[in-house]
Amino acid sequence: MYQHIRDVQEQQASRLVSRYIKHYESKTKRSKQLFGHASSIIPSGTSHNIRYFEPYPFFARMASGKYIYDVDGNAYTDYWMGHWSLILGHSPKVVVDVLRDRAVEGTIFGTVNEHALRLAELIRKLMPRAEMLRFASTGSEATMYAVRLARAYTGKRMVAKIEGGWHGFNTDLMHSVNYPFHEPEGKGILEEELRYVVALPFNDIHGSISILDGVKDDLACIIVEPLLGGAGCIPADRDYLYALQEHARKSSALFILDEIVTGFRLSLHGAQHIYSLEPDLFTLGKIAGGGLPIGIVCGLKDIMSLADVRGKSKGDRVSIGGGTYSENPLSISAGLAVLDHLARNPYIYSRLEVLGDEVRRGIDKVMSEHGVRVKSTGMGSLFLTHFLSDGVEDVKSARDVAICNIEMQRLYHFALLSMYDIFFLPSKLGAISTEHDSIDIRRLVDASERIAGDIAYLNVI
Ligand SMILES: Cc1ncc(COP(=O)(O)O)c(C=O)c1O
Repeated sequence: MYQHIRDVQEQQASRLVSRYIKHYESKTKRSKQLFGHASSIIPSGTSHNIRYFEPYPFFARMASGKYIYDVDGNAYTDYWMGHWSLILGHSPKVVVDVLRDRAVEGTIFGTVNEHALRLAELIRKLMPRAEMLRFASTGSEATMYAVRLARAYTGKRMVAKIEGGWHGFNTDLMHSVNYPFHEPEGKGILEEELRYVVALPFNDIHGSISILDGVKDDLACIIVEPLLGGAGCIPADRDYLYALQEHARKSSALFILDEIVTGFRLSLHGAQHIYSLEPDLFTLGKIAGGGLPIGIVCGLKDIMSLADVRGKSKGDRVSIGGGTYSENPLSISAGLAVLDHLARNPYIYSRLEVLGDEVRRGIDKVMSEHGVRVKSTGMGSLFLTHFLSDGVEDVKSARDVAICNIEMQRLYHFALLSMYDIFFLPSKLGAISTEHDSIDIRRLVDASERIAGDIAYLNVI
């Protein structure tokens, strides 16, 4: 574990890493035992690769508000917030109340229902580019459907995505996700399946346009996250997004925004409103399901109505989901409850933004006071601290992230968890919820300062 750090200053680093691990192991004995058992039944003990971290993840017992509790009785202040899906914290009252009622009224109808219609109407009101939409159960499905719709609408094949861009585990977009970007994302995905996908360097207009020029005649769509999420919490430059949107227009291709993280997280009207963008299609998930499974593909009527089966033969329609659990009344009602609450309390966003600015500034300040070179990126309530290596001055793309000191970032997050009961999924961005306050941010900054003191002398940054 943390081999690079160990190699640099063997003994000191080793002592520090061992101290953090020992402390974690001593307080999570039951988790360790359960993880050992789980990994014999569930590959790597978890059903989502990113949830695994060394030496083993703690086993959650329950969560409430800003806290997540493990089976060993530890309470952690949670900044992972259910893959950033919880903007009101864990199990907010508005969600719990509605779920109590809905659960006894039926958990799945498997047919149309008014709850879904209400959520669709609310989304259309908040995000007018959602002239029509379809519900699915995960974000991975929503992005897969968006790509399929784009290919069907344009009659073209090529999909342009971003290096480091994460759109879920759907095969169409499992390309150039992890560094090194030119290597396949693992076995089982055929080269042929990705023949029609190209990857663009984030925030690099010139580099992206020259790749797009190479596929112009066959370009079906460009799909981009307005804030590169899993790959480093990096906001897109406004000019970059405009250039992609413009290029898509000029090439008669569709411009797709993946707002699964940013939708209802950065503003009630999405990042598309903040950046004044006009996507042809966009995807939602996470917050839109209020902490329950959801994915939504939204867009202009002309495009979305290709999914309308009425009066069309098989060859004329686009087969998109969303599956057995689409429009299930629990996810839909939880999503409605959260969106209603956000719409009635719009000041929430400015408050979260203040906390986000406080945390980004605070961590960078205390780290630099200890001579540790970092840059906290993000926007609004999302943030991530990068440990800069020689030659990296700023973090603007997944390539910059790849040459930062990721082991040090993991160690920092692990130290927060082990020594200070503050939970980030190691090396992933943090999300602030309405349950967090300035005191939590102060605690996080103070803990970061103490960790900076621990790691500064390692002299590897
Ligand atoms: C930007 C983005 N798109 C799509 C997805 C996939 O969503 P899901 O995990 O619900 O399939 C994610 C998940 O983290 C995401 O961050």
